[in-house]
Amino acid sequence: MIESIKGTKGPFIEALSGLDLAVQEGEIFGILGPNGAGKTTLIKILCTLVLHDEGEAYVRGYNVKKEPGKVLTNLQAVLPGSRGFTWRLSGRQNLEFYALLYGLEDNVAKKRIEYLLELTGLLDRADDDYQRYSTGMQRKLLLCRGLLRDTPIILFDEPTTGLDPSSAAEFRSLIKDRLVAEEGKTILMSTHNLSEAQEMCDRIAIMDRGKITACNTPDRIRYELVDESQFNVTLHETPFTGKHEVMLNRLQEISGIKGITPSIDPTDGLQELSFRVDKLMDLSVILEVLLNYDLSIKTMNTIEPTLEDAFIAITGNRPAGPRRRFRH
Ligand SMILES: Nc1ncnc2c1ncn2[C@@H]1O[C@H](COP(=O)(O)OP(=O)(O)OP(=O)(O)O)[C@@H](O)[C@H]1O
Ligand SMILES: [Mg+2]
Repeated sequence: MIESIKGTKGPFIEALSGLDLAVQEGEIFGILGPNGAGKTTLIKILCTLVLHDEGEAYVRGYNVKKEPGKVLTNLQAVLPGSRGFTWRLSGRQNLEFYALLYGLEDNVAKKRIEYLLELTGLLDRADDDYQRYSTGMQRKLLLCRGLLRDTPIILFDEPTTGLDPSSAAEFRSLIKDRLVAEEGKTILMSTHNLSEAQEMCDRIAIMDRGKITACNTPDRIRYELVDESQFNVTLHETPFTGKHEVMLNRLQEISGIKGITPSIDPTDGLQELSFRVDKLMDLSVILEVLLNYDLSIKTMNTIEPTLEDAFIAITGNRPAGPRRRFRH
C-alpha cells in the first residue's frame, strides 16, 4: 500500500493517495486510467526510480525504499520512453553492452541474447545498426534489454502504444504466451487500450487521480460497474403509423427502459428499435408490447457492457484535476 507521494515544492498535492494493491505471482495485472492518473508514477515507484513519501511498497517481500537492490533483482521495468541505446551500434552490440553492465557472464550473456533475439523475432536484423530500426524493432530491443536479467517480475508502461495493430498483437502474445504461460513471469502493465486489457489481463485496476477506483477481473468490472445494457430488436418492415408513436410512448413509460432509439426509413418504415435498459430488466415486458402492436420480429440481441463503458462510468466526464508534483 502506497499512502502518498507528495511534492516538496509548489502546491502540495498527492500524485498517489491511499493506493492499496497486491499483484499475485504469475498473473498479468493491468492498470488503466486517464492521463495523469498516476500509472507511470506507480510503475516508477515499484522499480525504485521515484521515491514515495508515505506508505510502503513491497516486491516479493522486499521493501522498495529500504531494499532497492533486492527489489531490482526480482523486477525489471520496460518503459517505452527510455533511451540508452547507442545509434551506431547494432541491436546485438547494444544488448551485449547492457549484459556487461548487468554483470552477466560472457557465455550466459551470449546465450541469453541469442534466445531473446529469437524470441522477439529480431534475429535476422540483430546486426543492423540501431539507427536503422523502426519503432517496433526499437521496442522489441527494449523488451530484450528488459528480459536480459531474467527477473520473475516485469513491469510494462503502455507496451503497445505506437505499435501497428499486428506488431501490437504479436507483442501481446509474446507477453501472454511466452513470458507468462511458458516462463511463469508476473506482469504488471499499464495500458490505454481497453480491449488489450480485456484480452490479456487476469485482473485490472482502474486508477483515477491517484486512487484505485475499481480492481477486479475485466469481466467483473464491466458487469458490476455498468448498470445498463442495450437491447436491439430488428423488425420485418412495417409502415410507421400513429399507432407506433403511441407504442413508443407506452414503452418509454416502462420502468427499466432508459432510452429508445427507433430506426425509421421513409420508404421501408419501422426497421429497428434499440433500447437502453437496466441490465437486470425482464425483457419479455418489451416483447409483450411489441407483439400487442402486431410487430413481427426479425432478430433480437443484447449488447453487453464493454470495459470501455465501465471505464467511462467510473472516470466519467470530469474537469481536469490540479497539477501534481513530487520529488524524484
Ligand atoms: N516529473 C514530474 N514532476 C512533477 N509532476 C509529475 C512528474 N511526472 C508526473 N507528474 C504528475 O504526476 C501525476 C501522475 O502522472 P503519471 O505520469 O503517473 O500519470 P499516468 O497515469 O502515467 O498518465 P498517462 O496516461 O498520461 O501516461 C500527474 O498529475 C503528473 O502531472
Ligand atoms: Mg504514463
